[in-house]
This record gives sequence, structure tokens and C-alpha cells, in this order.
Amino acid sequence: MAQQTEQNPMDWTSEYTPILHALGQRFEEEEPLDGYTFAVATHMEAKSGVFVKTLNRAGARVLFTGSEPHSTDPAVVSQLDSIQGIEAFISGNMDKTEWESRIDDLLQEEPDFILDDGAELISRLHADHPSIAPSVSGGAEQTTTGITRLEAMAEENVLEFPVYAVNNTPMKNYFDNIHGTGESSLTNLAQTTNTILTGKTVVVIGYGYCGRGLARKAAGLGARTIVTEIDPRNALEALMDGHQVMSMAEAASKGDYFITATGNRGVITADHIQEMKDGAILANAGHLDVEIPREELSKVADSISTPRDGITQYTLSDGRKVNLLADGKLVNLTAPGSKGHPAEVMDTTFAMMIMAAVNLLGESSPETPGLYGIPDDVDREIASMKLETMDVAIDSLTTDQTQFRESWEPDRGDYSSPER
Ligand code: NAI
Repeated sequence: MAQQTEQNPMDWTSEYTPILHALGQRFEEEEPLDGYTFAVATHMEAKSGVFVKTLNRAGARVLFTGSEPHSTDPAVVSQLDSIQGIEAFISGNMDKTEWESRIDDLLQEEPDFILDDGAELISRLHADHPSIAPSVSGGAEQTTTGITRLEAMAEENVLEFPVYAVNNTPMKNYFDNIHGTGESSLTNLAQTTNTILTGKTVVVIGYGYCGRGLARKAAGLGARTIVTEIDPRNALEALMDGHQVMSMAEAASKGDYFITATGNRGVITADHIQEMKDGAILANAGHLDVEIPREELSKVADSISTPRDGITQYTLSDGRKVNLLADGKLVNLTAPGSKGHPAEVMDTTFAMMIMAAVNLLGESSPETPGLYGIPDDVDREIASMKLETMDVAIDSLTTDQTQFRESWEPDRGDYSSPER
């Protein structure tokens, strides 16, 4: 009879992070990070656990904490903590004060490199441990929020070391934002409400990377899609992609679902809510909890209730009900039961963080403090690795094509020649 065995959450995730697996195999031999201490902040769960393990396989001593105190999986932390060369500065049940104090402990270990989420470690290092900051050799940041903070630091000339903006790479935008946010937000929206998008009208507010994914995937599920924008080019792109485009004032009365992804605040207002259909469902996939302010809903509501976990229902004076998911916080990360981005998507983002780390030790590493883009060849290498893991082959340029692309002279070639 088959035996039942216990598994750690990381065992399952490892099956869906093939790039990290390939990097682990490649770097286990060379150990390019040997002799260096890496400080890592991230939401500590199975996917980031595999990331930490891969850094360690590449030779690094890894000290890790959570990018916030409440998103930590204790099973992952205890498994990582038992591995030689990995040390936890977080546990499952910490309050904010304990979490901050453990971050101080971590930073006092004087890491060589910082791989950050939300610039949590880098900003605290500069603010609270300024004497340690100059001894750090470099860092990398994976989130939009973190990049905004780092840009402010770079602008003020206070950054003490070079940091790679992993968040800004094409691979991050095209996969994490479009597909990760798109798919996980719709999954969580459907799961939290137990409703079906097919045949409904979904209004996507903001047609940037996240908005494109949301609108495309909602249309793929059979929803009618409306996009609202403030940028004429993105609005035109949405139109040409097959979505209806209109102002939010017009869309307000048409949508069954409204999903914000603008990075902006106050994009759904009390005036919009007054126009909405009975039963409208609002969710935010963009910035913190500011895109759909709860105060705007409270302004027009007579009563507020919680009909289901993760849903706040605002009843207007005429009896219409408007529902806000996850208190307007990121629906794919904070709705009940949400698991964030799929493992296959985080695989590319974490692989980019590891390649950034390896690159910071290489000859092409930036020498002066500041915020830097990931070199394009590194971004492409991750794309190639992803294709390889999916068993997909692509073509390469012939010598003739390379010359053609590199030459500015008029092409007078003989296309009938067999040598071409
Ligand atoms: P983006 O800059 O590519 O797109 C934002 C779009 O919103 C732009 O086209 C902009 O013109 C539009 N916009 C701004 N204000 C607007 C308004 N009032 N009405 C309509 N459109 C408006 O940014 P991206 O990459 O799509 O990210 C959007 C937000 O999503 C950011 O806050 C980012 O941090 C967040 N994000 C969330 C993730 C998640 O897991 N939920 C993952 C990645 C990003």
C-alpha cells in the first residue's frame, strides 16, 4: 500500500519554479556568491523560500526577514532556518515592534548585499544604521513601491551603494505585472465573491501592464470589457485591443465589476459610486488601499455590512448595494485565501534577483551609488531560460541577417544567391 509522506510547502512550489531550479544546479558547482552575506526581505512563504534556498545553493550566507510582519509561513521559516548558511530574522507570530527589532539585528550583521522588497531594509539601513550603509556593496529591489522610495533616495543623493531596479525590467513588466497580477487578481475576485465573470461587464481602470493583463484575461473568460484611462496612447491601445474605452463617469453605470490598476489614488469616487448598478463589485489590484478610498463609499452609504469574508457591503439610501473586496487593498495578495502571484511567475522575478546578485559581483557591476537598470542581456538570459524550461525553441539570426541589421548602407544584395 502507498505510504503517506509529510511534505513542506516548498516541495510543491519547487516543482513550479524551474528557472530557480536550473540556477541552483548551475551555481551549486561554481558557488559565485561564496564568502558573501546577503540580507533578504520578502513575503516569507513557499516561493520566497525557494528563492532563499537557491541563493544559498549559489554559496551565499543568507539572512532573511519578512517585508512585513504578517505574511510569514512558519513552516517555511523553520525549514529554511535548519539549513546551514541560512538564518531567520522573522517568525510566524511577530508584531510590528518585534519585526522591526529583528530587522535591526539583521542589519547589524553588516551584510554585503541586500535583496529587498519595498526598500524595507535599504531605507531602514540608511535611516537607522548609517554607519553600516557604506560597507554594503550593492542591492536589488523587486517592487514598484520600493523603486519609488529608492528613486527618492537617489534623487536626494543619500544612497550609499548601487541598487538594481529588478522591478523595471521587461521580464518583470511582461510576466509579473501582466500575467501574475492579471490572473491572480481575477482568480481571487472570483473566489472571494463566488461569482462568475463570464457574460458580465468588467471595467478595468488603468491600461498599463497590470491593466492589460486584467482586461485581456477578463475578455478571455467571456466578460465584456471596458477600459478607462488618462493616457491617450494607452487608451488607444486598449481600443485597438478590442476593449471599449470611455470615461469613468460613463463606465460607472455600466460595470458589474470594477478593478483598479492605476498606481494612482482616488480613481473611484463617491460620484461614480452613486451611478453604479445594484450589486456592483469593486476591487483594487494597483497601489496599496488608496485607489478606491473607503471614505468615498462611506460618504454615500446608509449602512455597512460584511456579507462574506473579504467583502464589505455598502448599502446606499435607495437600497442599492455596492461591494468592496479586501477593504480596497490588493485583491490578489490580501483577499481571504489569496496566495499572491503564481509560483511560475515569481520564478522569473526571483531568478532576476539572483542574476542581479551575481551581476553585482561581476566586472560589469555599477561602481558608483545609485539606482540602475538590469543589463539587457541578463533580462534576455532569464527569458531564454524560461523558454528552455518550457521546451520551446526559437530561431537565431544568420550571419547575413546580423550584417544586414548592423549596416546602414542600402541593401543591394542578390536574394537569389544560395549563400544568403
Ligand atoms: P503602469 O504605469 O504601467 O500603468 C498604470 C496605468 O494607469 C497607466 O496607463 C496610467 O495612465 C493609468 N492611470 C493613472 N491614473 C489613472 C486614472 N485616474 N484613471 C485611469 N487610468 C489611470 O503601472 P502597472 O505596472 O500597470 O502597475 C499599476 C499598479 O499596480 C502600481 O501601483 C503597481 O505598484 C501595482 N502592481 C500591483 C501588483 C499586484 O500584485 N497587485 C503587481 C505589480 C504592480
